[in-house]
Amino acid sequence: MLAAYAAQLVPDAPLDGLVVGERPAPEARENWSVVEVRAASLNHHDLWALRGVGLRAEQTPMILGTDAAGVAPDGTEVVVHGVIGADGHGVGPREPRSLLSERYPGTLAQYVSVPTANLLPKPAALTFAEAACLPTAYLTAYRMLFSVARLTPGQSVLVQGAGGGVATAAIVLGAAAGLEVTVTSRSGAKRERALALGAAHAVETGARVPARVDAVVESVGQATWAHSVRSVKPGGTIAVCGATSGDAPSAELTRVFFQEISVRGVTMGTRAELAALLAFCARTGVRPVIDSERPLAQTAQALARMAAGEQTGKLVIVP
Ligand SMILES: NC(=O)c1ccc[n+]([C@@H]2O[C@H](COP(=O)([O-])OP(=O)(O)OC[C@H]3O[C@@H](n4cnc5c(N)ncnc54)[C@H](OP(=O)(O)O)[C@@H]3O)[C@@H](O)[C@H]2O)c1
Repeated sequence: MLAAYAAQLVPDAPLDGLVVGERPAPEARENWSVVEVRAASLNHHDLWALRGVGLRAEQTPMILGTDAAGVAPDGTEVVVHGVIGADGHGVGPREPRSLLSERYPGTLAQYVSVPTANLLPKPAALTFAEAACLPTAYLTAYRMLFSVARLTPGQSVLVQGAGGGVATAAIVLGAAAGLEVTVTSRSGAKRERALALGAAHAVETGARVPARVDAVVESVGQATWAHSVRSVKPGGTIAVCGATSGDAPSAELTRVFFQEISVRGVTMGTRAELAALLAFCARTGVRPVIDSERPLAQTAQALARMAAGEQTGKLVIVP
């Protein structure tokens, strides 16, 4: 089958290690299902893997991709929950948590094998491309906003790095839930786009926000951390899921303890949260923001767009 995989890991030139070519199709395995992938979406995770962050040389060749929607062996349309092992999904109680493409081959392929318990029905209202955007970036944003920061309608949130996959997810999900969303972005065009997507305020990266917020969705890291700490209300929450720009910012400890700020790490979300997210999108009409769709053969071009930070929303790959 055709797949996009990490043939080697090149920290400074990640795309040099990417190959789109033939890989063996997955074989049937007890309690697992082979899904015919109709759409997959890219995440910064794929770039990290190609750089050798979270993936070791001896694990290559490894098919990339953590997100997919497709067709199960019984013909049902499904969305794949990409977290393996966390809830004992048919992989044994001692299986440590991993994401697809870390321990098991990922979704940037014509077929992917996953524990059957990781399959959820795809709502008919969502296209395969839309559904394929949800299991990583949208699930993480959903958990940050609603499970961790516990935001409720009328509250406020700051979303750092408005163009990113997690960030656009937080903007559209937050706006649909009645939150007052403020964003930062380095790009004027992306700030405009964020306002069109439902953000109430958009400021340049690092600029003062109109008012301190109840919570921050932080995925940028070093470049925005101090601003996140300065922008949250006393007693507020910073939910952090990534550090794209580096993970050695000043901790801003004095402000954290004096203002009694909660800092909460988030990684992906549970199967139940993904089910709730799918229902949320189906009921509200909220749809993932798709930057572009490309065939599998153009995975390198899509990843180059992400590496350059040019995208607004999700980059979808259609095998
Ligand atoms: N823990 C988890 O489960 C989880 C899940 C998903 C993602 N993540 C992590 O979260 C991060 C974001 O993921 P993603 O897929 O949303 O990535 P992405 O689509 O590449 O978005 C990254 C965004 O960060 C902003 N940014 C990057 N470098 C910056 C800099 N130097 N200064 C200011 N802003 C900068 C950019 O926004 P602007 O161009 O608008 O400024 C960019 O669009 C990644 O590190 C990823 O690994 C973690």
